Amino acid sequence: MWTPTSWRQLPAAQQPEWPDEDRLEEAIAELSRQPPLVFAGEARALRGKLALVGSGDAFLLQGGDCAETFAAFSADAIRDKLKILLQMAVVLTYGAQLPVVKVGRIAGQAAKPRSKPTETVDGVTLPAYRGDAVNGLDFTAEAREPDPSRLVRTYHQSASTLNLLRAFTRGGFADLERVHEWNREFVVESPQGQRYESMAAEITRALAFLRACGVDVSNDPTFHTVDFWTSHEALLLGYEEALTRRDSLTGDWYDCSAHMLWAGERTRDPDGAHVHFLSGVGNPVGVKIGPDATPDDVAELAKRLNPDAVPGRLTLITRMGAANAEERLPEIVRGVRDLGLPVVWSCDPMHGNTFTSEGGYKTRRFADVLAEIRTFFAVHHQEGTVPGGVHMELTGEDVTECLGGAQEIVDANLATRYETACDPRLNNRQALELAFQMAEMLRE
Ligand code: PEP
Ligand code: CO
Repeated sequence: MWTPTSWRQLPAAQQPEWPDEDRLEEAIAELSRQPPLVFAGEARALRGKLALVGSGDAFLLQGGDCAETFAAFSADAIRDKLKILLQMAVVLTYGAQLPVVKVGRIAGQAAKPRSKPTETVDGVTLPAYRGDAVNGLDFTAEAREPDPSRLVRTYHQSASTLNLLRAFTRGGFADLERVHEWNREFVVESPQGQRYESMAAEITRALAFLRACGVDVSNDPTFHTVDFWTSHEALLLGYEEALTRRDSLTGDWYDCSAHMLWAGERTRDPDGAHVHFLSGVGNPVGVKIGPDATPDDVAELAKRLNPDAVPGRLTLITRMGAANAEERLPEIVRGVRDLGLPVVWSCDPMHGNTFTSEGGYKTRRFADVLAEIRTFFAVHHQEGTVPGGVHMELTGEDVTECLGGAQEIVDANLATRYETACDPRLNNRQALELAFQMAEMLRE
């Protein structure tokens, strides 16, 4: 019998060592008295959109920070993140000639799995940073102590974030002509953008064509508002449990902390607490699939998470690394395809391509990110399956965290604006450049 608390009977990987269980339970109780952040009907609507992705009738763009923080929380940062995702989506819509389902890693993406439970600097060992929902990034014993009040603060910050996102996406900020105008600025004003001039000009002509046909591009709601969905890794199960509510319409349970939730590479044990928890909520869910996963592992996950073969319910997010994808991806894809359960295939070209630069920065190469996406499209083409979308770590700001791109960021530049609390993100220009490159691939 699944209940929102039944995960507690199972081993849960990657949970913080909270110093005081009573304070944790008090925080969870407080969260369970708060209003839901999203509604069940919205999560169902996203599931429907993802079903279209699964059948090749839409494309998925999921992206945002590796880790949202309290310090970087501001209206401008939220606006800029939404802005870059909307800019990418317009380019991809044109490239794929399909609607783009836009999902942010936002409004709750504040808990991180870590490869090691502790961190040692100059002989001092402290608990690892696990995201602002758990502890602080500063390397002091005080900051690193897990603090349950951070769960409550995460909820409130997520509520504010969502409020702003809802206003932006309904209030005209997402206007198609305006978003396209931002893209034209990138193309015209930046040297990186110039090679995409012809595609930008084609989009300009397509808009002019619509206007000539009498479509009121400036005022028709279709061009004026967008659907934007939220997602995060369902890592801290107490937080997720507290926000899981029974839908009054269907009687089913939904995790109302976000529209979509996913299990990470380190928490996808089919017998573990995370997969069990996600198996019981009605939201669309995802699982990260790394290079060590076997076809049997993935088939088992598909059976546990989508036993009723609901289209759009399960997204498999492969993150093999550019070097492994060609070898690892085909058998995984074939295994699930032959099982006959519907899934959405998405490519996370970030997490398999992380390394430490000579200068000591955790980084990724733009070329590797692009290469993994290219392999993802090629493999699905070859296996007759649908390459549904991508899952990116990016930011709307001009940070210097990933190497390369037409901007040619090199190791020595990383120090300029290396601001991530966890993994390196593509900056706004790298992200848009990637969208143009993907659009070219989609046209092929
Ligand atoms: C992440 O998405 O930030 C992450 C930790 O990914 P993964 O579980 O794939 O390593
Ligand atoms: Co990450």
